[in-house]
Amino acid sequence: MIEKKLLFPDPSKHPEWIPTHSPEWYAGLNRNVEKYKYPWKSVFDEPTAETIFADLISEHINETSKILDIGCGHGEFTHQFVTKTKDIVAIDIEANFIETAKGLSKNNKVQFQLVDANKKLPFQDNDFDLIYTKKGPWLYEEASRLLKPGGIMLGLFHSGTDGGLRDLFQGLYAPLPLDPYDIEKFEHKYNLNESYGLTNFEIKVVEEVEYLSRPEDVLIKKCFGQNDKLKQYVWQQCLKDVKEIFYQNASSKGLKVINYHHIVCAKVAK
Ligand SMILES: C[S@@+](CC[C@H](N)C(=O)[O-])C[C@H]1O[C@@H](n2cnc3c(N)ncnc32)[C@H](O)[C@@H]1O
Repeated sequence: MIEKKLLFPDPSKHPEWIPTHSPEWYAGLNRNVEKYKYPWKSVFDEPTAETIFADLISEHINETSKILDIGCGHGEFTHQFVTKTKDIVAIDIEANFIETAKGLSKNNKVQFQLVDANKKLPFQDNDFDLIYTKKGPWLYEEASRLLKPGGIMLGLFHSGTDGGLRDLFQGLYAPLPLDPYDIEKFEHKYNLNESYGLTNFEIKVVEEVEYLSRPEDVLIKKCFGQNDKLKQYVWQQCLKDVKEIFYQNASSKGLKVINYHHIVCAKVAK
């Protein structure tokens, strides 16, 4: 059998690699930056996944709704709902993000709290009309305890970037582990089933078009949340070839990639 030659070294095999979205990775981001914000330069076609998700939340709330944001980061997304409803609580496990969020919060219209969503949450039963997570942890038993009868849980999950990126930069970017359109596997991965008191699951795939502005952004995206030693290694090993491939394939807007997202909507079964 002929082994397929990888064009780029795989950074996740380097000893300094921190698994993305692990507690260690979030803690490192929290130490080094005050905001959960992507550091690469790019432009998007509208509507973005975030716009679609925000519209969906808005459709389900009115001025009397009480809502909870799980894994709010620095709270920028949360803020857009202050004109839509009065009672908003937002939690995150990272202290720096919560401090930044409180700083951004004009007139303290959102209650930002430092809370671990994997533990019992410090809120009363039947307290919320809607709970959402935008790329943070999904709630299981706690969602059905905290939601009022008829309440709704919404989630936006980022399910990887492709649209040619992984073929162009083989090795640097491994193939997507999950076909975004294989909904059964997606449900299985996140344990999205009716046994946790949630029901009527609706899951849809959203394809978001993004254009990475410069060759460096291919590497910045890959190394988001990694340390300087790892970045130095990746830049040395990859930048020259990444530049060549980037300029062969980019348009004046940049290098087009597709971000796959899943939007999940479930109702509480009580
Ligand atoms: C991918 S970021 C998304 C942040 C924000 N929702 C946004 O979209 O900009 C995920 C967030 O979930 C938070 N998070 C991860 N595990 C958590 C937990 N167990 N409890 C609360 N927050 C958590 C992280 O600190 C991080 O801010």
